[in-house]
Amino acid sequence: MKILAIETSCDDTGIAILEVSKTGNFSVLANIIASQIEIGKKYGGVYPMMAKREHQKNILPTFISALKEANLLKPAQSVFFPTAKNTDIEKILEREPELFKKIIPFFKKFSKPDIDLISVTNGPGLEPCLWVGVNFAKCLSYFWNIPIVPVNHIESHILVNLLENKNIKFPAISLVVSGGHTQIILVEKIGKYKILGETRDDAAGECFDKCAKLLGLGYPGGQIISKLAEGIKAPSTGSGQAKIILPRPMINTKDYDFSFSGLKTAVLYADRKVKIKNKKYKQEMSAEVQQAIIDVLIKKTMKTVKDFDAKSLVLGGGVSANQELRKQFKNKLEKEMPNTKFFAPKPALSTDNGLMTAIAGFYHKKNIKNWQEIKADSNLRIN
Ligand code: KG4
Ligand code: ZN
Repeated sequence: MKILAIETSCDDTGIAILEVSKTGNFSVLANIIASQIEIGKKYGGVYPMMAKREHQKNILPTFISALKEANLLKPAQSVFFPTAKNTDIEKILEREPELFKKIIPFFKKFSKPDIDLISVTNGPGLEPCLWVGVNFAKCLSYFWNIPIVPVNHIESHILVNLLENKNIKFPAISLVVSGGHTQIILVEKIGKYKILGETRDDAAGECFDKCAKLLGLGYPGGQIISKLAEGIKAPSTGSGQAKIILPRPMINTKDYDFSFSGLKTAVLYADRKVKIKNKKYKQEMSAEVQQAIIDVLIKKTMKTVKDFDAKSLVLGGGVSANQELRKQFKNKLEKEMPNTKFFAPKPALSTDNGLMTAIAGFYHKKNIKNWQEIKADSNLRIN
């Protein structure tokens, strides 16, 4: 079967086409991302209405590129286009008028591709952005009569790990760390989840981004801080010139929750005391920020791995692209829980993409919904 996946939960427009053989083998026919990173750099972050506009602009061209890459883009057989269909599509895209203008000529020009299922992220995420993907999926489902499954973005971050490794053993503990979320999830099996802990304020990725912004390092913060921190020891370990010691919020609490908003405030105060902000200072501050975040993520996650005797530890989300985080997690597991296996997606699949949505759609292919029923839900929970 061929699955078309649509992901627009934040600022990346992701379209993927995944073929799954009868024996369950995955082959990726296309996985294309239109990134809004340049806009984020210009404005210093993601703004929902601006991101929505970009999704509207990018989604159709990204879809066409994916169809081309998968060799599924075929010219239309007939030019007949009933007015009633035009009216219905206009209604679906009531709040995406720019997309509506482009989609009718597209439907006239190309025929229905060989796609069996549409998988679309319906939450959690930025509501206006989610709706672009959902309404686009609805149009395709309605016009071409292709079934559609809504999928949870957090679950997609977990299940993308199955692309390269289907023998993940359960129960697993999954840490999903992104710009919008920080959750520790108990995975009893695919489809059965329990959130054990989560952030009470900012997400870990958001903390990277905000710290980078207030240190004047630029956007996106996670990548910039990790690059600056490469090969540098965190000053709180006693090395380096700077005497920066950041707090590790909630590291010793008995629950599995996090809090990252205090860290940026601590960075702000520490930074005010420094007169000369040379490259060395920026590197050491970056290493300290990164290590403070890593310390709490590892401490709390390891606690759940032990408490639930997890057979696997599965990372996901943009922050899991962080090489230092992965390295330290692996070392800790080997030392303290050597029978627990470690999984993390390759960095390009840690951050948002359509392929993760396709994989989640495959595992929920029975959860087909009538396109009229599907709604975006910015606060969708995994359990
Ligand atoms: O999963 P994602 O692409 O989008 C959301 O669903 O939020 O995650 C984006 C987040 C951003 O906050 C970004 O700074 C962070 O992931 N990130 C990183 C790294 N690469 C991306 N954080 C730390 N180290 C990285 N290498
Ligand atoms: Zn994400």
